[in-house]
Amino acid sequence: MSTTDPTPPDWTPDSWRSRPGCDIPYPDTAALAREAARLATLPPLVTSWEIERLRSELSQAEVGKRFVLQGGDCAETLEDCRPQPIASKLKILLQMSLVLVHGLKRPVTRVGRFAGQYAKPRTNPTETRDGVTLPSYFGDLINRAPFTAADRTPDPGLLVRGYQHAALTLNFIRALVDGGFADLHHPEYWNLAFMTHASLSPALRAEYERTTATLADGLRFMEALGETTIDELTRAEFFTSHEGLNLHYEQAQTRRVPRREGYYCLTTHLPWIGERSRALGGAHAEFFRGVRNPVGVKVGPSASPDEVAALARLLNPANEAGKVVLILRLGVGKPAALLPPLVRAMEGRRVTWMCDPMHANGTTTPTGIKTRSFDAILRELEEAHDTMKALGVPLGGVHFELTGDDVTECVGGAAGLTEADLSTNYATACDPRLNYQQSLEMAFLLARKMGGGNGRLR
Ligand code: PEP
Ligand code: CO
Repeated sequence: MSTTDPTPPDWTPDSWRSRPGCDIPYPDTAALAREAARLATLPPLVTSWEIERLRSELSQAEVGKRFVLQGGDCAETLEDCRPQPIASKLKILLQMSLVLVHGLKRPVTRVGRFAGQYAKPRTNPTETRDGVTLPSYFGDLINRAPFTAADRTPDPGLLVRGYQHAALTLNFIRALVDGGFADLHHPEYWNLAFMTHASLSPALRAEYERTTATLADGLRFMEALGETTIDELTRAEFFTSHEGLNLHYEQAQTRRVPRREGYYCLTTHLPWIGERSRALGGAHAEFFRGVRNPVGVKVGPSASPDEVAALARLLNPANEAGKVVLILRLGVGKPAALLPPLVRAMEGRRVTWMCDPMHANGTTTPTGIKTRSFDAILRELEEAHDTMKALGVPLGGVHFELTGDDVTECVGGAAGLTEADLSTNYATACDPRLNYQQSLEMAFLLARKMGGGNGRLR
């Protein structure tokens, strides 16, 4: 180990095993060891230079020179590894990012919750139906959703299957991005579905058309200047992210790479630690303090400022730029009171502050359907934005659960989705997502607000 190696001296890729918090009850530990060893031999899903590039982009988001749009499914499933949902997710993220670039006048980094968002934390480790108690469903990387003992038993074979589906997803994403799918100078590739969307309001359509026309004009102008080729300028880059919940999976793909110092977690560019697993002495904090990736941490309303600051120090002892992303999920009505002490506790520390307005705004309808309200999501965003602005600290990004499809999972938005509509196309494997229309509208409202508009978002 060289003297410049950033790896903490008391850290190893498996030092997390002596800490609590990642105790998945795999019954067959020999099979687990075999599958993890197999996974460790397979090629990486992402590369160290991509991870370094994301770190550098995050270092700009920290100081307000860039904005991060992170979004995708709450839980990906192996079954949904199909071209249509993947392509439409890319499309909506791309369209939202363009709207944000236009409104914020800042470059936007796109980070998908995809290509590995297969492991879900659960509040209750078990579920009981009709007197039968089985392990909860922890996502397709760990077990299966049907309520049978065989399906709910953690299956180590899913480590490699999950990896394979992440690779298939990423392969398609890279091909779409490379093939010009995402290129701005072919607007017909990225606005077609949207423009023919029947429920789009004429006002929103007109505004969207104005935005895309302005963007296309700007690009043509740049091209005419001959400063750079338009391909370089408009190739949309996507980074991947997922909750690094299953450390057997993360460890198997964590290694040193040639000509760089330290260990890289090569399952994804941006792993994050969830609200339920961010304990200071826990397995997840231990594992992720040893990798070079930027690491996200979900911060809920019960997190104490001291605890969050200690976690940020642990994950980033040298206070490097672009290394820690705090993903606030405080709940509507909470940012004004909870943010100032958090920001004060982090004074002098490099961090990207992001707002996840989804995870503390869940409700259940009288008929037992999990939903979220567009208005509550919007209001938490607005409160986080206003509070950060008053504190003089940039809000570096936003984190959404969304899909490019016309699902009916969240209520509200311009299309006026009501509780009665939820059963029309309720398709999520876990939490309710913004649909195509709601996502795009959210981007417009956010861009207006952050682009200097005053008052309420809507
Ligand atoms: C999630 O992002 O899907 C999630 C479970 O979030 P949190 O850890 O913030 O509850
Ligand atoms: Co979720």
